[in-house]
Amino acid sequence: MCCVLIGNLMRIDILTLFPEMFHNVLENSILRIAQEKKLVSFHLHNIRDFSTDKHKCVDDKPYGGGAGMVIKPEPIFNAVEAVEAKEDLASKKILLTPQGKTFDQNIADDLSKEARLMIICGHYEGFDERIRSGIDAQEISIGDYVLTGGEIPAMVIIDAVVRLVPNVLGGNGSLQNESFTNGTLEYPQYTRPAEYRGMRVPEILKSGNHRKVEEWRMKEAIKRTQERRPDLLDKKTKE
Ligand SMILES: C[S@@+](CC[C@H](N)C(=O)[O-])C[C@H]1O[C@@H](n2cnc3c(N)ncnc32)[C@H](O)[C@@H]1O
Repeated sequence: MCCVLIGNLMRIDILTLFPEMFHNVLENSILRIAQEKKLVSFHLHNIRDFSTDKHKCVDDKPYGGGAGMVIKPEPIFNAVEAVEAKEDLASKKILLTPQGKTFDQNIADDLSKEARLMIICGHYEGFDERIRSGIDAQEISIGDYVLTGGEIPAMVIIDAVVRLVPNVLGGNGSLQNESFTNGTLEYPQYTRPAEYRGMRVPEILKSGNHRKVEEWRMKEAIKRTQERRPDLLDKKTKE
C-alpha cells in the first residue's frame, strides 16, 4: 500500500528513456514554484542505465513478428526496484499506456494525495506484457490517441497533479471553481477593460454584489456545461 501525503514533500520519480525532455517543463511556472516551496521533488531516471546489456539495449523485436520494437522487461524491473529502494517510502506506480484508464480530474485529485509517485514512460511499440502483469502499477492513458512515448503524458499528469497539492497554488480558492472540480465547466471570466471592441463585461460582475455575482457564475457554469459537455451534468445527477 502507498503512503498518503500529509502536508510534507511529495516525491515524484520519473522513469524514461528521454529524461532531457522534462527539464524545461519541470523548471518553469508552477512546477518550479512547487519545488522552490519544497512541496514536491522530481527525480529523473534513465531506464537505459538499468540495462545490463553491454550495449545498454532496452528493446527487442516482438515474438511472433510484426512492426517495431518492444521494451524488454529486465531494464524496467531493474529500474523500478532500484528507484523504489532510494527512499523508505512505498510509491504509487503509474504505467503510461494508451490502453489504460483515461486520466481525468478525479484521478489527478487522488494522485495529489499520494506521498510518492513513480511514473513509468514507455516508447517504441510499448511494454513487454510481463511488465504490465509483474509490476503493481495503475495503467493510465491521457486520451484515445497514440503518442510516440510516455514523456508528454507524464508531463500532463504531473502538471495536473502538482497544482492540486496543498499550498502549491497561491489561493486554493482558484481550484474550487475550476472546470471539472464540481462536475461542471467554469463560468466565463473577464478582466479589464470593461469594454473591448464593442464587447462589454456583464454589468452584474461590476456591481460589487457578491451574492448576485455568485448566482450569475453558477448559472453560467451550468449553461456552459449544458451547451458543451452535457455528459458531465448527467454524471453529476447520477452521483
Ligand atoms: C507508440 S506508444 C505504443 C502503443 C502501443 N503499441 C499500442 O498500440 O497500445 C509508445 C508509448 O507511448 C506512451 N503512450 C502513447 N500514447 C499514450 C497515451 N494516449 N496515454 C499514455 N501513454 C501513451 C506509452 O508509454 C506507450 O508505451
